[in-house]
Amino acid sequence: MSFSLDINAYLEEKKLLIEDWLEKAIPSEKSLPPVIHQAMRYSLMARSKRIRPVLTLATTESLGGKIEKALPFACALELIHTYSLIHDDLPAMDNDDFRRGKPSNHKAFGEAMAILAGDALLTHAFFLMSAPYPFSSSISPWLALEIIQEIARAAGTEGMIGGQVMDIQLEGQSAAISQVEDMHNCKTGAMILAAVRVGGLLADVSEKQLESLTLFGRHIGLAFQIVDDILNVEGQPEMLGKSVGSDQSAKKATFPSVLGLEESRACARQHYDLAAQALEIFGERAHILRELARFIVCREF
Ligand code: IPE
Ligand code: IPE
Ligand code: MG
Ligand code: MG
Repeated sequence: MSFSLDINAYLEEKKLLIEDWLEKAIPSEKSLPPVIHQAMRYSLMARSKRIRPVLTLATTESLGGKIEKALPFACALELIHTYSLIHDDLPAMDNDDFRRGKPSNHKAFGEAMAILAGDALLTHAFFLMSAPYPFSSSISPWLALEIIQEIARAAGTEGMIGGQVMDIQLEGQSAAISQVEDMHNCKTGAMILAAVRVGGLLADVSEKQLESLTLFGRHIGLAFQIVDDILNVEGQPEMLGKSVGSDQSAKKATFPSVLGLEESRACARQHYDLAAQALEIFGERAHILRELARFIVCREF
């Protein structure tokens, strides 16, 4: 599946901006103790779609906010996401040996250092978001606090961590689709929803607009994980940069394991339609967000 030229160009342009910012936001590999900074950078700077920070920048820019104000929060989301991937791959969790096109963090640095690299990325995200200068100087401290709380909630037991707990508990169980949906909304949806809402908060949108963005974020968040499940069955490891077939070997509860591939694809498309509907109040201003939603459901990586 190929995408309209403008969304590819948009993704590439925003990725460069984000990666340039990430590069400067993380201590150098020489900073003491070097190994932890090497391990953090190893996963953070590896090949990624950067979809969460792109969503924050796209939402804010589309609705009249400033990219520079959003970058620290967008990048903090990427640090937290990267930490979640490092820990997700550990032998005690999914035991996956490949991630972002190379050996997983624990394969390269050992389990102890991978755990610490994840911890350090999480901690550094909150350091960046709370820094008075130069990162968050241009927004009010109250707004910064509101956003930090939004992100903490999305990453915590009500969000990503809670979803990871459900993922582990549902392993080997015959789950109902509603349970899988709840798990997906938490483990993946919450961080994607936060990425969108933070973009909206930084653009100072109205309550009504924030509600529409919330609906949009929920549908694309769920669609994103349904597609991740589908790609684990029929995707190409080289394109994905990670192994396929692992969900089935680990007896994970996924959309395809409960509904089959065809119905899972239909489900992802339904959530795309609902996401697009939620954007209607923004009219043409939401063009890029609509295209990003399309990318999320049609992607092959
Ligand atoms: C993978 O996320 C893990 C999920 C939450 C599904 P991404 O597909 O966004 O991974 P990267 O950031 O591009 O590597
Ligand atoms: C990842 O879910 C969710 C988080 C890291 C929070 P999966 O375990 O399904 O994602 P992949 O397939 O390993 O990327
Ligand atoms: Mg997992
Ligand atoms: Mg996994």
